[in-house]
Amino acid sequence: PERCVVAVDGPSGSGKSTVSRRLATAIDGIYLDTGAMYRAITWAVLQSGADLSDVDTVVKIAMETDLSIGTDPQAPHFEANGVDVDAAIRGPEVTGAVSAVAAIPQVRAMLVQFQQDIISGAPRIVVEGRDIASVVAPNADLKVYLTASAAARAQRRSAEDATDVVATEADLARRDQLDSSRAADPLRQASDATTLDTTGMGIDEVVTQLLSMLNSKV
Ligand code: C5P
Repeated sequence: PERCVVAVDGPSGSGKSTVSRRLATAIDGIYLDTGAMYRAITWAVLQSGADLSDVDTVVKIAMETDLSIGTDPQAPHFEANGVDVDAAIRGPEVTGAVSAVAAIPQVRAMLVQFQQDIISGAPRIVVEGRDIASVVAPNADLKVYLTASAAARAQRRSAEDATDVVATEADLARRDQLDSSRAADPLRQASDATTLDTTGMGIDEVVTQLLSMLNSKV
């Protein structure tokens, strides 16, 4: 397709990132990891030493953070205030704090605007997150909601990070709970999204299925 926007939402560990990057490459498009944007802002907040419960200060730091967002699906690279944060945003401190920062409406409003600007400037783009089909790109050409069993999600995540599978499952459950219960743009399935349960499916199989869905729409 000459132009297309694909929205990929779902809980942590559903395979969104791997699948979205592969799909973006397949359509010769760019890739937007909105979770990494929330993570980079959270990194800057933690770096400042601000108290996470002090919402006004967190918002102020978020507004002042200079984000550089990589959109190359082969190697998305992120900087916050000129610092390479690719490794730090995946660490336990950021992972532990990101859902609290992402629950703040002003932080979301700022990042959603930023995301929409990137989307409108791109001919073909795959955007992954929690609220893409419902809030960020309601007019997306294809909306997919990826799920997998809690055990499968924990297994994939702990294989990626070499962490303990039981602790990982508990952390995923904790973030899913926070992300689905917050008042501002919670994780939920858009009514017009297609759900794909990837438990037991390989990446190639998922990507092939999404490509054929996209081809039937655009
Ligand atoms: O996808 P990832 O696990 O990197 O996202 C990290 C966190 O960022 C999520 O747990 C969620 O709190 C937040 N997030 C969000 N909205 C998005 C993407 C991520 O609230 N569109």
